[in-house]
Amino acid sequence: MYLCICQAIRERDVDAAVRAGARRPSDVFRACGKSPQCGGCACDLRQRIADTIAAEGTLQPNLLAAD
Ligand code: FES
Repeated sequence: MYLCICQAIRERDVDAAVRAGARRPSDVFRACGKSPQCGGCACDLRQRIADTIAAEGTLQPNLLAAD
């Protein structure tokens, strides 16, 4: 399912980004090599990030640069 319509970012893309260290929507966009457009997906991305972290439990802390 697409979480970001503007940039065609799917749940599995978010999950992969989280496994690579993403902890915020901006991290997900960076990991996908894309930039936010309307920003309407931010809440859904945050929720998916939290769900993925909770589901996988042992993920490393944010490894991507802070904004
Ligand atoms: S839906 Fe993600 S930037 Fe518009």
